[in-house]
Amino acid sequence: MNLLSTSSWKALCDHKQEIEPLHMRDLFADDAGRFERFSVTCGGLMLDYSKNRVEQRSMELLMDLARDARVEAYRDAMFAGEKINSTEGRSVLHTALRLPEGASLTVDGQDVCTEVHDVLRQMQGFCDEVLSGRWKGFTGKSITDVVNIGIGGSDLGPYMVTEALKPFAHGAVKVHFVSNVDGTHVAEALSAVDPETTLFIVASKTFTTQETLTNAHTARDWFLAAAREEGHIARHFVAVSTNKKEVEAFGIDPANMFRFWDWVGGRYSLWSSIGLSIALYIGFDRFRELLAGAHEMDRHFREAPLGENIPVILGMLGVWYHNFFDAASHAVIPYDQYLHRLPAYLQQLDMESNGKRVDIDGFTLEYTTGPVIWGEPGTNSQHAFFQLLHQGTSMIPADFILPLKTQHPSGEHHAMLAANCFAQTEALMRGKTKLEARAELQEAGVERERLGMLLGHKVFPGNRPTNTIMLDEVDPFHLGMLVAMYEHKVFVQGVVWRINSFDQWGVELGKQLAKAILPELKASEAVSGHDASTNALINLFRARHG
Ligand code: F6P
Repeated sequence: MNLLSTSSWKALCDHKQEIEPLHMRDLFADDAGRFERFSVTCGGLMLDYSKNRVEQRSMELLMDLARDARVEAYRDAMFAGEKINSTEGRSVLHTALRLPEGASLTVDGQDVCTEVHDVLRQMQGFCDEVLSGRWKGFTGKSITDVVNIGIGGSDLGPYMVTEALKPFAHGAVKVHFVSNVDGTHVAEALSAVDPETTLFIVASKTFTTQETLTNAHTARDWFLAAAREEGHIARHFVAVSTNKKEVEAFGIDPANMFRFWDWVGGRYSLWSSIGLSIALYIGFDRFRELLAGAHEMDRHFREAPLGENIPVILGMLGVWYHNFFDAASHAVIPYDQYLHRLPAYLQQLDMESNGKRVDIDGFTLEYTTGPVIWGEPGTNSQHAFFQLLHQGTSMIPADFILPLKTQHPSGEHHAMLAANCFAQTEALMRGKTKLEARAELQEAGVERERLGMLLGHKVFPGNRPTNTIMLDEVDPFHLGMLVAMYEHKVFVQGVVWRINSFDQWGVELGKQLAKAILPELKASEAVSGHDASTNALINLFRARHG
C-alpha cells in the first residue's frame, strides 16, 4: 500500500481545504449536538474530541484511511501473536500480559497465557513474602526499601505508575528508581536507604544495558561493603530479565529471577515482571487491577467499531494534524499532580515507537511520522508554556486529562483544577476575536492610541484543537485503561504510517560510539580519530580528568 495514493488520503487532502477556513467556535454555534456526536465513553473513561477541527465528514474520511491502512487487520494480527515486529522477527504481545487467568493464546506452540500467569504467581508469592515481612535481609530484618535499577522501558513505566498510584501504596516498602548512568542518581538513592533492609531489583530486558549494569554493580559494591559476604546477595538482589545467562553472570540466584519474553517490547513492559516494583509498592491485588484496566481497554480496542474506538479516534486525529496540518508536536497535560511523569513515559512510548523514517520494507517514507510528545501537569504548565499554545505561531494539538474524583478532596482545590482544565480547552477552541478584545479594552477605558498598539497582543486566534480525557479516578484500574489507550493510539498511527512501531534501531549508533569513546577518555595520548569537534571535546575532558 502506498499511503499517499490511497483514495482516502487524497480525499483528506481535498477535505483539508474545506476545513481550513472553518473556526471551531462556529462549528459549535451551528451544532448543539456536537459534544454528543464527538465524544465516546468506555467504562470509567470518557473522550471528548469535539474541540477538534473536524466535521462528521472528516471523521468518516479518517476512518476510511484507517480502513485503507488495514488497521483492523493489523490489530487482529497483533492480538493473535503474529510476528508483526518484522525487523526483529517477533510477536508483539504486551496485550497477552493482561489476559485474565483461564484465557489461552498459543504462539509458536506455546500457550503464552499459561506462562504469563506462572510468572504472575511467582511475583505474587514474592510480594507476599516481602510485604508480610517474612523475607529477611542479611541481618534478619525485613525489607523497607526497594530500589529499581533500570532505564527506558525498564524504568519509565514503573516510575510513572508508582508516582501516579501513591495514594494506593501498600505501605510496607518505599520505592526508589535509579536509571541515569550519572553517578549522582545512584548515590542519591543509596544515601536514602540501609543495606540491611534494602532490596534491589535489577530490571533489564537484555541485561546488557550499560547504564543499568553499571548502576547495579555500584549498588552491589555498596551492599557488599556492608554485608561482606557474596552469599548475602541472594536476599537483596533480584533480577527481571529475558536473559538468564547474564543474570547468573552478574551473581543473582536464578531462583530470584523473574522472566519475561522477547515478545514484550521494553516500552510496553510495565505489565510484565518489569512491574515488580509496582506490585511491591501497591500490593499484588492492586497490580492485578492495573492489568484488568488495561485489558478492559484492549477489549474496547478490539471490539468497538472504528468510529467509536477511542485509540483509533485519537490516533487518526493525530494523523490528521501531523500530516495534513503540519503539526510537529503534541502536548499531553494531565490535570492531576500524581500523573506528573505521564508525559515523560509517553515520550518513550510514542517517540521510540513511531520516530521512524523508513517503512516496514525499509524504503524512505514520503511523509512525516512521529510528532514530538511533551507536556507537564496543569495548572503549572499554564504558567509556563501555555502562552505558546494560545498565541504562538504553530498549532499544537493537546490532550487534557482530568480525574473526576480527587484523592485529596480538600476545600476548593479539585473544583479549581477542573475549572482551569475546562477553561483552557474552551479558550484554545474559542480564542478571542479582535472585536471582543477591542470591546474589552474600551470598557477598561484604554485610550485610542494605546488601544491600537495593544489590540494585536490581546487577540487569541483560537481554533486550536484539544482532546479532553476524563477518568473516574486515577486508581490502578483506570490508570491501566489510560496507558493501554495510549499504547493502542501509537499502534494505530504506526499502522497508518506503515512503519514498525516495535523496534528501536535509532538508539544503537550512539550506544556503539559511546562504547568506543569510553576507553579514549582514559587514553594517555591525545585522541585524533574523530571529527575535529569530537576530538577536541574528548581531549578537553581528558585534560581536566587527568
Ligand atoms: O533505549 C533503548 C532501549 O532498548 C529501550 O527500548 C529499552 O526500554 C531500554 O533501552 C532498556 O533496555 P533493557 O531493558 O534491555 O535494559
